[in-house]
Amino acid sequence: MELRKPLGKLRLGVNIDHVATVRNARGSAYPDPVRAAKLAETAGADGITAHLREDRRHITDPDIDRLMEALSVPLNFEMAATDEMQKIALRHKPHAVCIVPEKREERTTEGGLEVAREENRLAHFIAPLRDVGCRVSIFIAADAPQIEAAARIGATIVELHTGAYCDFHAEDRIKERDAELDRLREMSAFAHSLGLEVHAGHGLTYDTVVPVAAFPEVMELNIGHFLIGEAIFTGLKSAIVEMRRLMDEARKGA
Ligand code: PXP
Repeated sequence: MELRKPLGKLRLGVNIDHVATVRNARGSAYPDPVRAAKLAETAGADGITAHLREDRRHITDPDIDRLMEALSVPLNFEMAATDEMQKIALRHKPHAVCIVPEKREERTTEGGLEVAREENRLAHFIAPLRDVGCRVSIFIAADAPQIEAAARIGATIVELHTGAYCDFHAEDRIKERDAELDRLREMSAFAHSLGLEVHAGHGLTYDTVVPVAAFPEVMELNIGHFLIGEAIFTGLKSAIVEMRRLMDEARKGA
């Protein structure tokens, strides 16, 4: 395998959706995702990610208003490619907008966006977001045709879906896991060669983060569910500090 040097510092985006999931389970005001975001900042998060879903099952509109007001690090606003979400993004002008597929019945974002199938619509959809200065990221599977389509529609970033890799790891399907990891590595280099900034995320844990953090072209990891779960046992700050440490170690060894 060819050895390549990392292209720069690896950023950690902390996804705070599931703080809101716990809050909403009781319809209370706590735990507050904005408080978690501020704590994440002090623990070393380089950015905060929040997904405003169509059904508002976790993050709500007032949460986005408050995050925009309170954060000192960039907000990565995850959303589906709908008119409603585009209006909200254009009003707030967050640092980054990550376009994800959304199905009402899914438990989480199950697959990547089918950019190739909707190229024309998506090109028109992201143009105004770019015009107001948002960095547009497209969440896709590590798949060459999707990456090529993301480059053609004018996206700045592709975020590669690491969910299948993490699922194979959890199920001890080592051969499939390693094949998926190879694909992610190869597609990170391919996306970079097309001029795209490369991010990755979904399902990452202490056990799975290291190989992905070592990909030289990957500039940002977005991690949520595991960190919020781990916070129950060790506290959010310590969970983030440990994730950051693993990422930095992986990067040094790359
Ligand atoms: N990146 C994207 C685009 C996502 O949709 C999600 C989940 O909301 C994540 C990263 C974070 O995934 P997880 O919560 O499994 O760490």
